[in-house]
Amino acid sequence: MESLFPERRELAVADAYGELRLHELAPPGRPYVIANMIASVDGRATLAGRSGGLGNEADRQIFLDLRTQVDAVMAGIATIGIEGYGPLMKSSERKAKRARRGLEPVPLAVTATRTMELPVQTPLFSDPGSRIVVLTNSDREPPRCAAQLSIERLPGEPLDLLAGMERLRAHRGVRSLLLEGGPTMLGAMTAAGVVHELFLTRAPKLAGSGDELSVLEGASLDEPLGLGLVSLLADGGYLFLRYRLGANA
Ligand SMILES: NC(=O)c1ccc[n+]([C@@H]2O[C@H](COP(=O)([O-])OP(=O)(O)OC[C@H]3O[C@@H](n4cnc5c(N)ncnc54)[C@H](OP(=O)(O)O)[C@@H]3O)[C@@H](O)[C@H]2O)c1
Repeated sequence: MESLFPERRELAVADAYGELRLHELAPPGRPYVIANMIASVDGRATLAGRSGGLGNEADRQIFLDLRTQVDAVMAGIATIGIEGYGPLMKSSERKAKRARRGLEPVPLAVTATRTMELPVQTPLFSDPGSRIVVLTNSDREPPRCAAQLSIERLPGEPLDLLAGMERLRAHRGVRSLLLEGGPTMLGAMTAAGVVHELFLTRAPKLAGSGDELSVLEGASLDEPLGLGLVSLLADGGYLFLRYRLGANA
């Protein structure tokens, strides 16, 4: 892998983002939020409805490495269902790395829903060892599952994701959160103004289909959001861009 910006040098994929120390960047009362997404050159986040066909090995490693750096990992209910999420940290080596960083061996899982139609058939929700926080404004009871569910009920319409982030910090001590998509959840979190950075892998592919989701869906931003480039890495035609968002850019 090669760093192209801010400096030019060779580096190992394992050192792509080194020690991010994200919890030190947390604003008062809520977590520092980074999003990690992959898109084709024409901006699509899926191929045949899944993200898997877009990635390469370096992207996979970075996806897992980012999980070793945060208190919590958040994903939308469609992503958890479609991608068949399982326990968030399986490798004992990565669990040990998290422990050396002062983190719980397995990150807290977080999702958000207005309908409470949780993907309880997935291995994540079937795993008694998984701790999952559900941010919701629904008063419905969650479906039964084996995972350890905590329901954070937030008043009001629409679902207040800023209040959700504040609850995660106040009730669960979450200082850093990795948002893994999907495009709708990224859109909602971006519109709520709670995302600080976007790690975007640019796959050297053209999806070529208008049926595929774009990297950001459903968001109504008041105006286009500026992004500040923090770093640019390259590996086998794949580009790994790290951006700061908006006022953080
Ligand atoms: N390229 C990538 O990096 C990447 C990453 C992840 C996923 N994906 C792909 O993206 C697809 C899934 O993404 P998706 O965008 O369809 O769904 P998603 O973002 O995973 O989840 C969407 C769900 O979030 C819930 N939600 C909670 N708060 C919301 C709010 N304020 N606004 C809107 N929805 C809210 C909604 O469920 P309720 O109606 O219950 O509220 C909604 O159905 C899959 O095909 C997956 O493979 C790609």
